[in-house]
Amino acid sequence: MLRPSTLLHWLASCLLLVLALSAGATQAAGHERLSLDGGWLFHRGEVAMPAVKGHGMSYQNGKANNGWGAAAADFDDSGWRRLDLPHDWAVENPFDRNENASQGYRARGIGWYRRYLPLSEADRGRHIELQFDAIATHSTVWVNGIVVDRNWSGYNGRSIDITPYVRYGSDPNTIAVRVDADAQEGWWYEGAGIYRHTWLVKRDALHIATDGLHANPVKQGGRWTLPVEVTLQSSAKAARDGVVDVVLIDPAGREVAKGSARARVAALESAVARMKLDVREPRLWSLAQPNVYRVRAVLRDGAQEIDRTEVQTGFRTIRFDADKGFFLNDESVKLQGVCIHQDHAGVGVAVPESIWEFRLRRLKEMGTNAIRFAHNAPAAEVLDMADRMGLLVMDENRHFNPSPDYLQQLTWLVRRDRNHPSVILWSIFNEEPLQSTEAGYEMSRRMVAEIRKLDATRPTTGAMHGGLTTDLNAADAVDVVGLNYQIWIYDDYHKKHPKRPLTSTEDTSAFMTRGEYASDRKGQVMASYDDEPSSWGNTHRDAWKAIAQRPFIAGSFVWTGIDYRGEPTPYEWPSASSFFGAMDLAGFAKGAFWIHQAQWVKDKPVVKLQPHWNWAGREGQNIRVMVTSNAQRVRVLLNGREVGEQAVDPYEMNYFQVPYAPGRIEAVALSGGKEVARDVVETSGAAVRLVLTPDRPALAGDGLDAVPVTVSAVDAQGRPVPLAQDKVTFAVEGQGAIIGVGNGDPNSHEADKASERSLFNGLAQVIVQSRRDGRGALKLRASAQGLQGAEVELPLNAVAAPPQVPTAEPTTPLLSWRISPAAAVKPDPNVVLAENDMNSWGWDEPPMRRGPEAGAFRLYRSGVNVRADRNDGRAQLAFGSIAGKAEVWVDGVKLGEKTAAEPAPFSVVLPQGGGRREVTVLVEATPGQPSGLWGRVVLERGAP
Ligand code: GAL
Repeated sequence: MLRPSTLLHWLASCLLLVLALSAGATQAAGHERLSLDGGWLFHRGEVAMPAVKGHGMSYQNGKANNGWGAAAADFDDSGWRRLDLPHDWAVENPFDRNENASQGYRARGIGWYRRYLPLSEADRGRHIELQFDAIATHSTVWVNGIVVDRNWSGYNGRSIDITPYVRYGSDPNTIAVRVDADAQEGWWYEGAGIYRHTWLVKRDALHIATDGLHANPVKQGGRWTLPVEVTLQSSAKAARDGVVDVVLIDPAGREVAKGSARARVAALESAVARMKLDVREPRLWSLAQPNVYRVRAVLRDGAQEIDRTEVQTGFRTIRFDADKGFFLNDESVKLQGVCIHQDHAGVGVAVPESIWEFRLRRLKEMGTNAIRFAHNAPAAEVLDMADRMGLLVMDENRHFNPSPDYLQQLTWLVRRDRNHPSVILWSIFNEEPLQSTEAGYEMSRRMVAEIRKLDATRPTTGAMHGGLTTDLNAADAVDVVGLNYQIWIYDDYHKKHPKRPLTSTEDTSAFMTRGEYASDRKGQVMASYDDEPSSWGNTHRDAWKAIAQRPFIAGSFVWTGIDYRGEPTPYEWPSASSFFGAMDLAGFAKGAFWIHQAQWVKDKPVVKLQPHWNWAGREGQNIRVMVTSNAQRVRVLLNGREVGEQAVDPYEMNYFQVPYAPGRIEAVALSGGKEVARDVVETSGAAVRLVLTPDRPALAGDGLDAVPVTVSAVDAQGRPVPLAQDKVTFAVEGQGAIIGVGNGDPNSHEADKASERSLFNGLAQVIVQSRRDGRGALKLRASAQGLQGAEVELPLNAVAAPPQVPTAEPTTPLLSWRISPAAAVKPDPNVVLAENDMNSWGWDEPPMRRGPEAGAFRLYRSGVNVRADRNDGRAQLAFGSIAGKAEVWVDGVKLGEKTAAEPAPFSVVLPQGGGRREVTVLVEATPGQPSGLWGRVVLERGAP
């Protein structure tokens, strides 16, 4: 039988619950994906954890919220640097010959990030997820002092369910991230820090899992269908039902197919809703017409939408044929591919999306149709871009290892990327010493099997640089055998394995310095004529010739499309970045760019003449002129007079020896006897003026958009000066900033994060980025000694930034309290509780309500770490509400006394001084009345 008072109490609680649930239900509606890039605090270097000693500390160390040092919620981060992500701290470091050549001679080390994360009461009951797109390299994440994630790769994203640990209301949560970038995963520059985007995703307790929408069209028997799987997850307390409505949206924005499915999801479980959409005559995704469709999944609970997500997809078929190579939509496509790493001039690995767009656009201009993101997963937005731009992608996993941790990295990659029409191959390894062995085969087999469970539509590959002749090797387990270099094995291997599709996964590896036309081993300079392959590689021309002439090799992946930091082969210090690129680190063309353009571009005539024509002192001497063109013939003219004409050699390209005379040298491309293209190079005088050429005429004022601006010098007649090396200083006015500078010289030790840069062989790059809510115009000025300066104005278009998590100032709540048993006699507030006594005093967090009880007195004890910005003798220890009379003691000194017994706010001023303080509150209850610390307790900054 329920007593009336209990019944009343019960009814009241039910009412409250219903109210809370309905409030929760309204609040929980919808999906919020907020940028968490802003408002971080950063400390470069380790923050030592205190040694765990003594029973009390050891006991606490064994508990969930055991984050010490900078991982602790109340750590004093008042002196830390404020910054926004993405952030690469390695690129901020100077070059140092004692650091690793492979990582570009820059210190990496350890760093810490902290961020205060406010969540409102309205968020209670939702599923709260923290997402890091990538952190280089080993990372540990704490929320409110609790370890919530550890990750050992700098290339995979992490989605962390932080729902159980977060607090709502007045006190923000604390996120702490320790990054160990001394750990290396590659032999190239890998950067350091939280270098991709960070998000906070709030969803209903029942929601679509991250990367939980799988929608990859398939064609069978001439019919297209779109099988859709939507993985639902629930953090609700009981089973829930959801209905998923899926629509397919064509490139014109029309809804062209629909489906619906329901699923029941048990508490803390997941379930998959499946459906199949019939799609009639979709517009195919191709390189020339990259038709991107969108698939939207909306999750409903009854009539109410509770979550939604959207992915890109495309309708295309792919096939690798053992004799004829690769087919896209049943048409043969030779892969004109490049390998690239992910760093760029000025910004390191923290590359804004718009700079990626610039890089991919430059590669397309070169005729590239395929990219191997070597040797790791690219950022998600880069694959979206590849879909939209019509580029094929070899999507590569970093670690060859089928053990659980690493397999998780592989399955993350496949889950994230399996809807992209651009992705045509999963690459599971690159040049593994175990590739020739049975172990290599067994490892491959397991990784391939795992991929097939998630995606049966794309073949797998692995990049072999040997080991192909053993009885059982890693290549035996993949669908398409990938060959790095070894062009001598192509025919033999094909003959022995006539049913195996083959592709180059990597070729070329030849050296060039932009704008240089004579190699100088001492000066660590390589001529840009494509004469210097590595001992294991080939020139750009030889590698392509071997591939282009063999239909059974699906295509080429040139090492590399763009230079990257580290691996300064064939040199070491002072060279700090690579010589392999067809473009330099800033995306300026080297000789190989023009070679590939002539070999690869089919839809328009191209011609390029190299070198520059500034050879004062060499009058009358022969200069080697290289002409690259896709036309039938090329003719060279010097100062209007014909020097020679040749049939174009589409592989070797064409050379002319031209006795130098200053003036104008021209290459005329001819097809069918008619001029189809012309390139003109002129001798220039001394530089007199700088020129700024932005890649685009305006910027989105969203705090994300960045534009590379080319800096060059011209002579009095406005002709480019190819050998100018002037030091240029930049200044920005308006709502934006310079985020990096570069010039593509692999031997340069000038800073990337700077407002000055020397031209290198006539060119430099400065990257400007808008500020959030940037309006008006951004003015960039360039000046150099002895030259006329330049100025360019970039209007900032009003474009809203993605929704952001508001920044929050730190608060110092006193959360963890010990509570003495109730006593009839007033106890000594400074009584020492034995370190090894875990039980005679209780443990709790405010609000703490006690009684009515037998004894009137209780002690409440906690500690507070006083931040340096709160130690000035004005800070207040504020109690939201104390019920009962009370004395507040800090470090054995009584600071205040509350004489009224009614529940009321109370505060004491904390004497000057930082560090750890012990706080004890002695509470005396009114007989028969409940008592305690009923409100939050927080250390507040005092009034100024
Ligand atoms: C390959 C390797 C690449 C790069 C290249 C340089 O062996 O896969 O990552 O190191 O050599 O030639």
